[in-house]
Amino acid sequence: MSKSKVTEEILKLKELINHHNYLYHVLDQPKMTDYEYDQYFEKLQKLENEHPELLTDDSPTQRVGGPALDSFTKAQHREPMLSLQNTYSPDEILEFHERIQNYLKGQGEAYTYFCEPKFDGLAVELVYEKGLLKAAITRGDGVTGEDILSNIKTISSVPLSIQHPDVKTPDIFEVRGEVVIFKHDFLKLNETIEQMGKPAFANPRNAAAGSLRQLDPKVTATRPLKFLAYSPGVINGLKLRSQEEFFEIIRLFKIPNALDLTQSIKIKTPIYKVAKSIEEAVKYYSDLEEIRQSLPFEIDGAVIKVNEFSLQDILGKVARSPRWATAGKFKPQQAETQIEKIEVQVGRTGVFTPVAIMKPVKVGGVTVTHATLHNQDEVDRKDVRVGDYVLIQRAGDVIPEVVEVILSKRDKNSIPFKISYTCPSCSLEGEKLEGEVAIRCVNPLCPSVLVESLKHFVSRKAMNIDKLGAKIIERLVEENLVKSFSDIYKLEKEDLLKLDRFGEKSVDNLMTSISGSKNPSFFRFIYSLGIRFVGEQTAKALAKKFKNLDEFLNSDLETLLDIADVGPKVAESILKSTSSDIFRTEVQKLLFNGIEIQFAVLSGRGTIHPIFDGLTFVITGTLPVSRTEAQEYIELRGGKTSSTVSKKTNYLLAGENAGSKLDKATELNVQVLTWEDLLNWKS
Ligand code: IVH
Repeated sequence: MSKSKVTEEILKLKELINHHNYLYHVLDQPKMTDYEYDQYFEKLQKLENEHPELLTDDSPTQRVGGPALDSFTKAQHREPMLSLQNTYSPDEILEFHERIQNYLKGQGEAYTYFCEPKFDGLAVELVYEKGLLKAAITRGDGVTGEDILSNIKTISSVPLSIQHPDVKTPDIFEVRGEVVIFKHDFLKLNETIEQMGKPAFANPRNAAAGSLRQLDPKVTATRPLKFLAYSPGVINGLKLRSQEEFFEIIRLFKIPNALDLTQSIKIKTPIYKVAKSIEEAVKYYSDLEEIRQSLPFEIDGAVIKVNEFSLQDILGKVARSPRWATAGKFKPQQAETQIEKIEVQVGRTGVFTPVAIMKPVKVGGVTVTHATLHNQDEVDRKDVRVGDYVLIQRAGDVIPEVVEVILSKRDKNSIPFKISYTCPSCSLEGEKLEGEVAIRCVNPLCPSVLVESLKHFVSRKAMNIDKLGAKIIERLVEENLVKSFSDIYKLEKEDLLKLDRFGEKSVDNLMTSISGSKNPSFFRFIYSLGIRFVGEQTAKALAKKFKNLDEFLNSDLETLLDIADVGPKVAESILKSTSSDIFRTEVQKLLFNGIEIQFAVLSGRGTIHPIFDGLTFVITGTLPVSRTEAQEYIELRGGKTSSTVSKKTNYLLAGENAGSKLDKATELNVQVLTWEDLLNWKS
């Protein structure tokens, strides 16, 4: 390819990837599979590796580029970041309006209020210079903050450069906004964190703060952060007249904002509103409080701003807050009640969570009876006891929690609460690993954990039994038809037909899907077993290291630690499983019930299949297995996959309805294989 062709190709790929990033991360309307996305991404990475002089800072490949930092550098805001004055009721909002009217008396101009949600996260300023994202500065003391650019770059929805065909790119474009974590992402994140034995975050705001403070951007990249823009900073080279125009422009620049980020969900009232009177603004404030729960992110009020920038300038500021805006805060979501008992619940991942069961109390319009106490450390820290009177709050809106014990009302005979190590679900002893806060049930067949273990077992990257969805698993466990992994392979057609809403056809499909999963590759099999800390990567490393199942089951600490991906914690967890009778029996039962593991054929030198070594495959058309599976099959045997057919392609793996790639392969004399050819292709 000529240099100009490469430049053009790189530009096209960057635009394509950025566009699909936006569809996925902002609009929540993906139009490309992860596989396709990865292919384009890798293609771009490859071209940039081959032509490092064409690599730019705003390439999507540069989102997690930098090394871990020792500390953040301080940075000044061009214009101080102020804070908002709070109001707590419609009356106080009316007083705010009166103050503005008095101040603007004689100006004779009509004005509107721009109303928006008050996001509960951390304020950050993005600085675009000549269209490129050059800095991202925390609020700090308002004048000086810290440059956290490498962390902000990991947020896929934040554009690394801004441009639009109809807008002249401004010299300086500063956008202020709030970094948040969406509610459902927060719950998932906490689950992962608890599974790693670390203390969960109390609320999405703390989770966002902790993630932004990370000195290693690779850690931040794993956190589901989002940015929601709310106001301009310094802007040079572009005239904006109002807050409304500011939002129009940032939407053109694809800078994430609450409107675009909620497009895919139904909300009863508009997320932003231009109010022509203060009454309309007050109505927005009360409407917003009502739909608060249905928003995907946490808010703690409504911000009402004079829309016109010329008037904002006239109004100016008092102390550190602008006169032209107020934060209408919602009523605090706190209440007092009494704890009747503390129950220990076993979560899907085996973690024991103490939960306070309380006398029902209304908080922010919702009746609350349960509050999480997280773990023993939290119980000890707050010294929560059965019978205590407590102040509770809906931490944002996510989970009710105990704020503090009202000690003056404590019964003097009360005793501190200690979580028992006996699993309330299966009665086996739970465990607490060193350095972890959580006690957990480690029995993979414990009824509380079983549904989750099974969901993992059947998932796409594990045994890939796609017709066995979460609902069916729950039913099968409820009906006692499945008590372990191997029970799946013992299911009979009649068992399934007995379940409601299960017709002949769906049962047949399910049975086919189950029997189709009986030949997993070694790494998938290991991954399926749900050993703690053994994710896909580690499972791959284990499958490479051990020739067969026995070697794996009988491996020792030294051998495990020899594997690059395996540290002491992972090794210990593997050994705990492989030395457990329940685990070993389950593996044997799986083999007995028809699982035949496919081991990679290894060359004498090590880990690579002699035929696939160094060969490049392109996959096209519909194969009997998923693309990911075909790709893994090739890669595990040392081959490479690519998305375009070229002279360098060794084989085209073609399924049904193969299109232009097949033509290209024929033209270039590239050999074409079917999936069956590949499977039969032993050394
Ligand atoms: S405007 C001077 N709009 O609230 C006005 N702030 O107390 C600049 N915040 O530091 C802020 N949502 O972190 C504005 N829609 C919104 C906001 C918002 C959340 C936060 C922001 C700011 C604090 C002000």
